[in-house]
Amino acid sequence: MQAKIAVLAGDGIGTEVTAQARRVLETIAAEFRHTFSFEDALIGGIAIDETGNPLPDETVALCQASDAVLLGAVGGPKWDDPTAAVRPEQGLLGIRKALGLYANLRPVTLYPELIDASTIKREVLEGTDLLVVRELTGGIYFGERGRRDGGKTAFDTMIYTEAEVERVVRVAFELAAGRRHKVTSVDKANVLESSRLWRSVARRVAAEHPDIAFDELLVDACSMHLIRKPSSFDVIVTGNMFGDILTDEASMLSGSMGMLPSASLAEGSLGLYEPIHGTAPDIAGQDVANPLAAILSAALLLRHSLKLDQEAVAVEDAVQQVLRDGYRTADIARPGEATVGTQEMGGLVAERI
Ligand code: IPM
Ligand code: MG
Repeated sequence: MQAKIAVLAGDGIGTEVTAQARRVLETIAAEFRHTFSFEDALIGGIAIDETGNPLPDETVALCQASDAVLLGAVGGPKWDDPTAAVRPEQGLLGIRKALGLYANLRPVTLYPELIDASTIKREVLEGTDLLVVRELTGGIYFGERGRRDGGKTAFDTMIYTEAEVERVVRVAFELAAGRRHKVTSVDKANVLESSRLWRSVARRVAAEHPDIAFDELLVDACSMHLIRKPSSFDVIVTGNMFGDILTDEASMLSGSMGMLPSASLAEGSLGLYEPIHGTAPDIAGQDVANPLAAILSAALLLRHSLKLDQEAVAVEDAVQQVLRDGYRTADIARPGEATVGTQEMGGLVAERI
């Protein structure tokens, strides 16, 4: 097949890991006889430096004209003044909103080879295989915010409509049907009105899916259960900010943030694929970052936007094989263990494809 892929590498290690994800997609194209074309565009801090805008119009236009978007990460100390009017994160939030990417899939896979890389005990981790579906274009991230009293009071608004909740909860149920048939809806309905609305919508959708087990958890309890008995979860569906926080926590189940990919999906087949980690300024430019989260994001791109499931599995199998063969980047190595760099890791995965 032919596919056009927009590449938004961004800042810091974003550029390094995205280069390896692209290399893996090129290998897939060669091996499976597809034609993938790649086009780069600016986002984040580098876009501010070059154009003054973290999300130039050309970037949005390119993404809209593509079949899928591969994204690295945005931000860094250079642009870190929280009071600045223009910030790299606006690029990321802007592209999510502009493309209507309301469903963010963050699978947490436990690789048996990495079980000792986690700070959590082996017996707690065993059996972990969960998927967080995070609502990505609503909630407190996009509600009204501002200052009052001459700047002395600040507010952010958590706001959800029934339609916004319903479409993302439906995605969670559809995905659960292809997994272990369980959905957990996470909210703070004992305090927040938006969560009470969330809960009533989730229950209504659940009633249409008698074949899928359904339960509800408050977000504080969920954060506890995630490290107490992670294997009890299959699909978790939650709002934008709760999903942001819970997925950083959940990433530690798999040993490193450097292992967690994500897919952000819209209505239609266009999607954006990015590792959940950030730009890691402390290690940027040193060829030591783990590219596996970016590479696994490319696998999700193949599966969800291009419907190339066999190719996606080939990437995931190659990653598994590299780990089985004992190769480790620094973040997943045990003390004293030999490590490989970003480019070498990408090459090892490509070789196995
Ligand atoms: C994420 C990140 C972003 C978010 C930041 C960089 C705006 O933490 O993708 O999880 O909060 O959504
Ligand atoms: Mg986050």
